[in-house]
Amino acid sequence: ALVYEWSGLTQLALTLEKQFNVQKVIVVPGNFDEDETVLTLLGKEAAKHFNESVNSGQIVAITGGKTVASLAQFLQLDDTQKNITFVAARGGIGHEMQMQANTLVALFAAKMNAQYRTLFLPEHLSEQAYQAMLKEPMVVDMMRYYDQSDCVIHGIGSAEEMAIRRNSSPEDLRILEEKGAVSEAFGYYFNAEGEIVHRIRTIGIQLEQVRKCNNLIAVAAGKQKVNAILSYFKVAPKQTVFITDEATANAIAESL
Ligand code: G3H
Repeated sequence: ALVYEWSGLTQLALTLEKQFNVQKVIVVPGNFDEDETVLTLLGKEAAKHFNESVNSGQIVAITGGKTVASLAQFLQLDDTQKNITFVAARGGIGHEMQMQANTLVALFAAKMNAQYRTLFLPEHLSEQAYQAMLKEPMVVDMMRYYDQSDCVIHGIGSAEEMAIRRNSSPEDLRILEEKGAVSEAFGYYFNAEGEIVHRIRTIGIQLEQVRKCNNLIAVAAGKQKVNAILSYFKVAPKQTVFITDEATANAIAESL
């Protein structure tokens, strides 16, 4: 018989599902801010969901970040998930190699004996370079992958932290602040209402491509991200599955 445990975490997850109007929320126990091992739990749950929802032959776009990186150790060869292609959803960002989308696609692919596509471009381009790049066969090829992505795995960052990570100029930081940017995901900055207020000029997955993808896995936790999460989920596509920790989920529920 199926024993259904009506735990506090399930209740909390349901509260967030309703509030955010998304497909599913998964809450792992603990507080990421106080205990780094909670990151492992996030990765485990995200990988589990990935395992259940992604089938053989599918294309999976992934952004970088330490949260998305946490899935890596839980990915493994699986008969129901053959011939997957992991695609870097964005170019290089900052300096840290472990967190790059390019690094993660290679790592995920190695775990699953899958294929991968990297995007070795600086994330931020001049207008001229951007226009020229759009015509490059390699970029046209990546755009086709983004268009066909069956799943996107992404983090959510606070606008300020992501801008700093991107080595944005003081001028850019000021503009973001002026525009009220609160959250960041896949190169887009959103204000508290969830409206796009800034987009870095970049080659990478476009919001339209994310929106039409059927399987979105968002992973984010930490008290410095609470406002960012509230902002992003004002407009997050309904087909998003959100994985977070207990402390973050409580902070979100309390803000309602
Ligand atoms: O776009 C948001 C970032 O991917 C979040 O990165 O998981 O390292 O905080 P993080």
